[in-house]
Amino acid sequence: MINTCTTVFKNICYTLFLCLLMGGVHAQVKEQGIIPQPYRIQKTGDVFRFSPNVAIGVGDGISTDNLIFFNQYFRSLAGYTLKNGKNTGALQLRIDSVAVTQAEGYKLSVTSKQISIIGHDQAGVFYGLQSLLQLLHKSNGKITVQGCTIEDHPRFAYRGMHLDVSRHFFKVDAIKKWIDLLALYKINTFHWHLTDDQGWRIEIKKYPLLQSISAYRDETIIGHKKDSPHRFDGKRYGGYYTQEEVKAVVAYATQRHITIIPEIEMPGHALAALSAYPELGCTGGPYKAATYWGIFDDVYCAGNEQTFTFLQNVLDEVLPLFPSRYIHIGGDECPKTKWKTCPKCQQRIKDEHLKDEHELQSYFIGRMEKYLNSKGRQIIGWDEILEGGLAPGATVMSWTGEEGGIAAAKLHHNAIMTPEKYVYLDYYQSLYPSEPLAGGGYTPLSKVYNYEPITKELSDDEAKYIKGVQANAWSEYLASTAQAEHQIFPRILALSEIGWTTKGNKSYSNFLKRLRYEHPLLKQLNINAADTFDEITDSVTESADYQVQLALSSTLPNAQIYYTTNGTTPGLKSKKYNKPFIVTTSGQIKAAVFSGAKQIGRVYQKDFYLDKAIGKTVTLTNQPQGGYNPGNTFGLVNGVFGSKLYNDGQWYGFNGDDLEAVVDLGKVQPVSQLGINILKYHWQKMWEPTLLTFETSTDGKNYTEVYRQTTFNDNGINAVRANIKATQARYIRVKGTNKGIIPPGEYIAGAKAWLMVDELIVK
Ligand code: ACM
Ligand code: ZN
Repeated sequence: MINTCTTVFKNICYTLFLCLLMGGVHAQVKEQGIIPQPYRIQKTGDVFRFSPNVAIGVGDGISTDNLIFFNQYFRSLAGYTLKNGKNTGALQLRIDSVAVTQAEGYKLSVTSKQISIIGHDQAGVFYGLQSLLQLLHKSNGKITVQGCTIEDHPRFAYRGMHLDVSRHFFKVDAIKKWIDLLALYKINTFHWHLTDDQGWRIEIKKYPLLQSISAYRDETIIGHKKDSPHRFDGKRYGGYYTQEEVKAVVAYATQRHITIIPEIEMPGHALAALSAYPELGCTGGPYKAATYWGIFDDVYCAGNEQTFTFLQNVLDEVLPLFPSRYIHIGGDECPKTKWKTCPKCQQRIKDEHLKDEHELQSYFIGRMEKYLNSKGRQIIGWDEILEGGLAPGATVMSWTGEEGGIAAAKLHHNAIMTPEKYVYLDYYQSLYPSEPLAGGGYTPLSKVYNYEPITKELSDDEAKYIKGVQANAWSEYLASTAQAEHQIFPRILALSEIGWTTKGNKSYSNFLKRLRYEHPLLKQLNINAADTFDEITDSVTESADYQVQLALSSTLPNAQIYYTTNGTTPGLKSKKYNKPFIVTTSGQIKAAVFSGAKQIGRVYQKDFYLDKAIGKTVTLTNQPQGGYNPGNTFGLVNGVFGSKLYNDGQWYGFNGDDLEAVVDLGKVQPVSQLGINILKYHWQKMWEPTLLTFETSTDGKNYTEVYRQTTFNDNGINAVRANIKATQARYIRVKGTNKGIIPPGEYIAGAKAWLMVDELIVK
């Protein structure tokens, strides 16, 4: 137990947080609710009224931390604190693991006479109080709570948020502020990604060069890594947490029932460590902490005993700082390039009778697992620890998709679901052009919210191995706390509800109601939460008569959408949107959501380019893959061009395969311009074709080549527009030869290139 003075001191930030929180509680009580949605909640119509005479009755064994948090909050709202009334208090707290059977669960009952919180355990009492905090209402200077009975417990034992502090470093104050909010939303794990290529962020006293060299990089890339050529800011960047700071953060989190799991990455993502200790790499260096984002070939040498000594010594200092049962050892994105030509690594493969470098990775992870097990800890690793065989007691964090988690569960290993497609917080949450720079993917709030961690591939027995979910905030593009908050909030609230709320109790529209109440509170807490979730989203579909149809929607109830088709700013006097409509001419459509006379969010806009190919039949020889439109061809002739946000749903991606598309115009007609857009981002594995040709035909059998192009100079979108000699044609064939395997020296050399195209243009 922490003594009260220390606790009070440590909680100054929390007090400020709570003071701020109160400001908003008066505002819009109508939608007041709890996030995450409780298991069972019934309103009774009673009202409990607080007064200075109300006392808190504290059951045996209740942590004083709980009381302090509650009273600090309460005082900032009411101007007085509640006395400790032992068994006579009108607000009763007690632990009863029989009355409440689930871990972390609680029962909260509010009548006109009494509020009672029964927790299964300390965490249960804490979460009961967090729910009560969200129900307090101040009106005319009086604090009330609507009568209710709540029975609540989490769906999953593991509810996590990850934060990368290597690519960008966040100070202790910011981390504590975020931990306060994680606790409020009943998230119980903070995964602290402390080491990576771009900076080592935890003090290790035995290796002082980790502080003086590895914690810093020479400069940082400006803009997105897909931009080319890369530009740099020329400014040394870095920092690290001292062990004292780490201890303080861990204690702070522990008081709030949050376990911190540290991640010390291995064997890949090791450049920062190698920059100080080059003997741990296969070539001996020299190495530099990375100044841009990606996957780097130089990793820890798996054949060198010094590597294991170093990592064990590091862990010997890390373990006493983190009481968590689990230690994350990374394991992801470790290229085997250097291992393949390293005599020491090859010798290890021989000595250990390993099949290949994948088994060498498995050897590495297995050896570190044994070490950590000998210290009483368990390992967690990313998907790739499945490569070459899973270490015996390892928990898999499934990120590339859900397959890793599914495979682990089927092997009766624990798994935590963190699929990038659904819960990566560094991805875009809005496709509006004014959205700040983000990672690349698209995980809007609705997509995060609707993620279901138990997939149908799992039997009930296997599903028990899915211990929970986590959202990951990689920080390549989180260059400030404000930008980090924009990415993390409110999506982390959606994650909290995935982790806590039973499947049957989830409802996105109901969540949004509660979020609209919660959002102003986040703002008052100085959290730069994104507020774009009610903005217009669209869908461009093919109408029954093969035209382009645009549907607009907003999740805001009773919202009105107004739009223009002439490029002017929409207002209340513009056309009112009632139902999907046909886009009949090229031009820009703008629209905005209004609640009464108030515009909500930013103005939506979309450009349409209509030509002879719109809505015509397209036949593809090879199917596009991944998130790039497999099984659909309308997007190639829908009049909408893919944007620089390559996950905008418009692009067609061919992974290693060629493009071969035929557009059937329906009848022979004059044609004088053919076109296509090609996305070239080598830093995203997206390569231009080595050859592009356009051919025309009147019968679909005999084609004449009318255009060819072999160079595509623009980084980003290459708009190919071929003005050809006017000709009669019914069929247009477009062929693009995929680059194939990414050549040596290029980003992710050896992988298959993506050929990314959109919109087949015929005029
Ligand atoms: C990861 O996103 N590389 C785990
Ligand atoms: Zn090696």
